[in-house]
Amino acid sequence: MGRLTLEDLRAMKRRGEKIPMLTAYDYPVARILDEAGIPLLLVGDSLGMVVLGYASTIPVTMEDMIRHTRAVVSGSRRAFIVADLPFMTYSISVEEALRNAARLIQEGGAQAVKLEGGFPVLRVVRRLVEAGIPVMGHLGLTPQAIHQLGGYRVQGKNPEAAQRLLEEARALEKAGAFAVVLECIPSSLAAEITANLSIPTLGIGAGPDCDGQVQVISDLIGLFPDFLPRHACRYVNVAQWIRRAALSFARQVRAGTFTPGEGTLEEEQPEGGTT
Ligand code: KIV
Repeated sequence: MGRLTLEDLRAMKRRGEKIPMLTAYDYPVARILDEAGIPLLLVGDSLGMVVLGYASTIPVTMEDMIRHTRAVVSGSRRAFIVADLPFMTYSISVEEALRNAARLIQEGGAQAVKLEGGFPVLRVVRRLVEAGIPVMGHLGLTPQAIHQLGGYRVQGKNPEAAQRLLEEARALEKAGAFAVVLECIPSSLAAEITANLSIPTLGIGAGPDCDGQVQVISDLIGLFPDFLPRHACRYVNVAQWIRRAALSFARQVRAGTFTPGEGTLEEEQPEGGTT
């Protein structure tokens, strides 16, 4: 069985089958998520924050995205891999957008790219799709525009902004996008957009009525220490496991009892797993 295709994703929407999508940034996690049957993996530029420790996604480069996309592709066999186009790599000209998207597909091995925005990116979306590159849109809270938005806030709250987001979603579909992420918008608006599109919507902080939900893996497993966004859900606390392993190792080394291959796995569950 090969990788899932765009047609598989379309069929999921037609059947009303909810779509789980997670971010992945490296080989081991991609492998675990792929084996767990997650159909859509996003190499998000959130890696700038949750892996590289930047304050925002803005410093992420094409080289970062290509390196991490390659790792996620290597770790997965079945998932459809979407890679984010970083800040300003698709805004200067259509030619540059084509060149950068081509690199994520050709050098990174992704099946599709994601870019943020509505009306301003339609021409780019059309050209990428014409060139044979599947495009996922991203509307609502678009983190690459954080300086313009003035903070990580819910978008589309007033009627004019909501109407614009609905029109932008329709326009993205018409331009050929195969799916659209809806980030931090009111549930009622996300439900209306979802009902108006024949392509899947993937919500994050957009209520339960999207066709699927996307989450940042580091939030889900407790591996990002700085904050947990309100729309995130933490199922396990991997940070506690890592801390426990490091403490056990250090204790054994200091006591002179560390013996490789001696089965030092501790069986108890770490505390603090929350949902
Ligand atoms: O970069 C990312 O992880 C994203 C998701 C939050 C949708 O764009």
